[in-house]
Amino acid sequence: MAFARLEREAWTDPGVATAYAELWREFVEPAIPRLLDAAQVAAGDRVLDVAAGPGPVGRAAAARGAEALALDFSWPMLQSIGPALPRIQGDAGHLPLRDASVDRVVSNLGLLHFPEPQRALAEAARVVRPGGVVAFSVWGADATALGVVPAALTSLGLTSPYPSAPGFFLFGEPGVFEAAMRSAGLVPLPTERISWNGTVRGFEAFWRMFRSGSARTRASILALSEGDQSRLRGEVTRQLEPYRTVDGLSFPTTVVVGRGRRP
Ligand SMILES: C[S@@+](CC[C@H](N)C(=O)[O-])C[C@H]1O[C@@H](n2cnc3c(N)ncnc32)[C@H](O)[C@@H]1O
Repeated sequence: MAFARLEREAWTDPGVATAYAELWREFVEPAIPRLLDAAQVAAGDRVLDVAAGPGPVGRAAAARGAEALALDFSWPMLQSIGPALPRIQGDAGHLPLRDASVDRVVSNLGLLHFPEPQRALAEAARVVRPGGVVAFSVWGADATALGVVPAALTSLGLTSPYPSAPGFFLFGEPGVFEAAMRSAGLVPLPTERISWNGTVRGFEAFWRMFRSGSARTRASILALSEGDQSRLRGEVTRQLEPYRTVDGLSFPTTVVVGRGRRP
């Protein structure tokens, strides 16, 4: 599937892994304690962090006294974690773990990158123990930073050929997570929304987050000619005006956390 290839090629590129680890951390980190609360992670729990990337969720779980395992299909991403956490190279759709072998499965902003998100939820349901909790977060549709480059592309009338993929904001829509948890064999827990102001140091950092440290948006940018990329930079600068602060940029940001308990 073209989308699966696009995602794998992006995240396994060492340049993308480095840019993501360097640039997204500050933006994403404020939501992580609340994601761990939503997943009911406590000291002593064995926690699988799926699509761990540079490991902010696993590190925070370990700081709570949990035994965290970081799983990602990208070795460059896992390398950026270093040896602080046990690392497992594997695919969210085929978890290399035994049935009922962990207490919690968490995933921060992974689901919208999977070609078969329902399969990843079913795998999480398989590896969590009875009574254990699965919690997956996705961007909310009102995560303003995520809309800037797409809005700038639209306003310039630029389109890039893009493989068909599950909707980026699909799981943020009411009822979708609950139904997906049920289909995975889990008892849905109430979906949570986590909101905060995501900060970015300035325009160059923002541009590099998307131009070098993302998958779908990066592909849309790289498909453009150099001239169109330069026009896009100009339009993005204009669209960032409402988010400027004395320190850089600040964006109202939301993630939606779908949760389920294994019966
Ligand atoms: C947006 S990053 C999120 C990283 C991390 N959870 C965080 O909060 O910063 C998405 C991660 O998903 C990983 N990923 C994407 N598709 C995957 C798959 N099918 N199986 C395992 N990991 C995957 C990528 O390698 C990347 O590290």
